[in-house]
Amino acid sequence: MRKKVTVVGAGNVGATTAQRIYDGGYADVVLIDIVEGLPQGKALDMLESGPVTGSDSSIIGTNDYKDTTGSDVTVITSGIARKPGMSRDDLLYTNMDIVGSVIGQVVGNSPDGIVITVTNPLDAMTQHALQVSGKSRNQIFGMAGILDTARFRSFLAAELKVSVQDVHAYVLGGHGDTMVPLVGPTNVGGTPIADLIPKERLDAIVQRTRDGGGEIVALLKTGSAFYAPSAAATQMVEAILFDKKQILPCCVRLDGEYGIDGLCVGVPVKLGEGGVEEIIKLNLTSDEQAALKHSADAVQELVDVMNNRKS
Ligand code: LAC
Repeated sequence: MRKKVTVVGAGNVGATTAQRIYDGGYADVVLIDIVEGLPQGKALDMLESGPVTGSDSSIIGTNDYKDTTGSDVTVITSGIARKPGMSRDDLLYTNMDIVGSVIGQVVGNSPDGIVITVTNPLDAMTQHALQVSGKSRNQIFGMAGILDTARFRSFLAAELKVSVQDVHAYVLGGHGDTMVPLVGPTNVGGTPIADLIPKERLDAIVQRTRDGGGEIVALLKTGSAFYAPSAAATQMVEAILFDKKQILPCCVRLDGEYGIDGLCVGVPVKLGEGGVEEIIKLNLTSDEQAALKHSADAVQELVDVMNNRKS
C-alpha cells in the first residue's frame, strides 16, 4: 500500500509541496486548509494532471482532519508569510496560534506519524509544535537547513560554473539573519571552497545566502519563496518514506549536542523511516561554534518571547 502524506496549508508552499509529492508518486496526498474549496480545488486540479504526468497516486483536498487519519508524514506549512520589510520574527504570534491549533489535530489523527514544520519563524515554530504536542524530537522537526544550503550551493555553483551536484555544503543554525553557512567543510568535488573563491567574493556569497529569503520577498512583494522551500520539504519527505538514512541539515531540538540544550536549531541529521535517527556531530572551528551559539541565542530570544506570552 502506498504511504500517506498530509500537507497542512494550501498556500504557495503547501500546494507546491503537495504537487511535488503527488507528481513523484511518492505517496497518496491529503491537502488540508481552513479555507473551504481551496484545497479541494487545488487537489482536484493536480489529480487531473496525473494522466499527463503519469502519477498513479491519489490526492484529495479537505477541510476535515478526519481525512488525514493515519498519515505517515505531515508537513505543516500553514501560517502567514512575510511581506517586504518584515522579518520572519514578525510572524511569531500569529503563526504560533495557527501552529498550536494545527498540531493538536495532526497528532490526534496520526499519533504515530512524523511531522515536518515549515511555518516561520521556523525554529520557534518547531519548538512550539514540540512543546504543545509532547512528541519526541525524532518525530517533530523542521525544514530550513536544506533550503538555506540549497541557496548557498546555487550561488557557489553559478560562481564557479560547476554542477550544483558537485557543491557540498551545510548551512547550520537558526533560519534567520544569524544562520551559519559553513565555509570550512564546503567543497567542490573535494576541493575546499576557500581554495577556489577569493575571500571577499566568498563573504559576499555567504551574506547573500543569509539574505536569500529576503531577496525573494523583495522581488515578489506579495509573499515569500515557495519553489525552493517546497523542494526542500519534499526531499525530507522522500528521505523518510524511502528510509534513505540521508544526512540533511534540519531543525531539531538539541539536547546538549553542539553545546546547545533544549532548543530547536539547524544541524545535520540522519533522516530515515524513524524520522531524525541521529544527530550528526561536525567538527566545527571555534569561530563556527561561536557563530552557531550566536544563532541559537537569537532563537532562544524568540522562544522566550513565546513562553512569556503564554504565562
Ligand atoms: C525563505 C522563507 C520561506 O527563506 O523562510 O524563503
